[in-house]
Amino acid sequence: AMMGKGNYAHFMQKEIFEQPAVIGDTLHSFINPATQAIKLPDMPFNIGEATRLTIVACGTSFYAGLVAKHWIERYAGLGVDVDVASEFRYRCPPLPKGGIALFISQSGETLDTLAALRYAKSKGQKILSIVNVAESTIARESDVVLQTFAGPEIGVASTKAFTTQLTVLACLAVTIGRENGTLSKEAEAAIVHALTELPKQAAEVLHHDEEIRQLALNIADARDVLYLGRGLGYPIAMEGALKLKEISYIHAEGYAAGEMKHGPIALIDQSVPIIVIAPSDELFEKTASNMQEAAARGGRVIFLSDAQGLATVGDIASATVELPKVADFVAPILYTIPVQMLAYHVAVHKGTDVDQPRNLAKSVTVE
Ligand code: G6P
Repeated sequence: AMMGKGNYAHFMQKEIFEQPAVIGDTLHSFINPATQAIKLPDMPFNIGEATRLTIVACGTSFYAGLVAKHWIERYAGLGVDVDVASEFRYRCPPLPKGGIALFISQSGETLDTLAALRYAKSKGQKILSIVNVAESTIARESDVVLQTFAGPEIGVASTKAFTTQLTVLACLAVTIGRENGTLSKEAEAAIVHALTELPKQAAEVLHHDEEIRQLALNIADARDVLYLGRGLGYPIAMEGALKLKEISYIHAEGYAAGEMKHGPIALIDQSVPIIVIAPSDELFEKTASNMQEAAARGGRVIFLSDAQGLATVGDIASATVELPKVADFVAPILYTIPVQMLAYHVAVHKGTDVDQPRNLAKSVTVE
């Protein structure tokens, strides 16, 4: 069937606004409404016995893998390696006997990711995948498929596929932590509760659209944009930078906030917008002090935080966006939305082809 844009100017905008619904759809497929317990499909192996997990993906899906690494190591005590597919198989990485490899792909057709899957399979790994297209090649060649229920994603720059991948990965992290005894029942219940709040909170974040559109007007003329975050905010900084470069053609870099002093700080002057992802979590003070260093060098800081974070250092920033205060675990899912909207509005303001950016393909089936 022909997919329409409805009342939206672009598919990307429609897909950004679909996120409350599709995050909800994805959660519903994994959370038992009666018991509020996460239930993944049965697996022909015991994931609680895993000694190491290898995650492989490309592009935006790779950044989902980086968030998952943090979650699974922190909340499930399982060591995770994450790699881009085009590097993974040529390095001939040693893989543990009976190990599990996880492939993340919206399309399920990305050639590098598929080739990495086949490599892992040839090395005796159990194959888990997270795909949005259930009948894709990657899905067919996997032992277990966890589906994202994002619906068709038309915009080349991935948005709702990413946040639903994170939703599935959150459920996977909780499952591993429960199965291997790392995550207490109480901690699990708290995470499930935070996840079920997400659709409502994502809808709240979308209300900042006009405010973010205004901020975008001041970014459209930038040559370079820096995105900073720590912990779970670091992969979101990279994803924000990727979104901006994909559709607005502005050079952008996502950096670990604490690593800024080892290089990117040399770039900072009045012409450089710096997007700081800073929920008021345990790393907040450190991120805030990095933000101050950037502001002191004249950088135009756009500070994304919650009321608590903004109350302490918000006045140092050139601009702020106030997001709901959420549990640390789910913050990366929510903080993705404003960076998507920012990239979108910068691109619209510049007049680029938002849904079909030059040189990029929705699904890359060449090496
Ligand atoms: C292309 C798309 C990206 C996507 C990447 C991986 O580069 O333009 O949006 O993140 O491929 O695609 P996949 O379908 O494997 O997630």
